[in-house]
Amino acid sequence: MALREVLQFPDPRLKMISQPVGEITDAIRELTRDMLEVMYDEPGIGLAAPQVGEAIRLFVIDTEWSEEDAERCPQVIINPEFIHTEGKIIWEEGCLSVPDYTADVERFARVTIRATDLDGKEIVEEAEGLRAVCLQHEFDHLEGKLFIDHISRLKRGLYVKKRKKLLTETDGE
Ligand code: NI
Repeated sequence: MALREVLQFPDPRLKMISQPVGEITDAIRELTRDMLEVMYDEPGIGLAAPQVGEAIRLFVIDTEWSEEDAERCPQVIINPEFIHTEGKIIWEEGCLSVPDYTADVERFARVTIRATDLDGKEIVEEAEGLRAVCLQHEFDHLEGKLFIDHISRLKRGLYVKKRKKLLTETDGE
């Protein structure tokens, strides 16, 4: 079966506010499997459901994984909320939905997240560094936000312009 397509900026569906997940159904489990497949294929370290067009509060992450050592530690995060945030950190971020671009973004340095896993069990996790950044980045997707919403208007404007030009050129082919 073909992999699900990752929506790319400026697709308006990336701006939707996602709805809480109710019962964990077979459809949710299947979506999660599909999302993990896409994440590892790209490759990426996180993918949120709205990025594949499903506006529900679910994302997958694996911050341990890299192409060199294919040790996979996937985690499914459902209905997350931050119960504690602290400090500041600047990290260079990228996103599968924001092609050909990275930028420094300021985030909380340490977070505590509460969520549900795929078995419906509660998870509470304290994270820092890359893990904390990734959790905040993926959470943003559920709120219809991209990392480029955190950068200066000038930088964002330049990217939007570049992206529109590229899309216009591709349309013309
Ligand atoms: Ni992203």
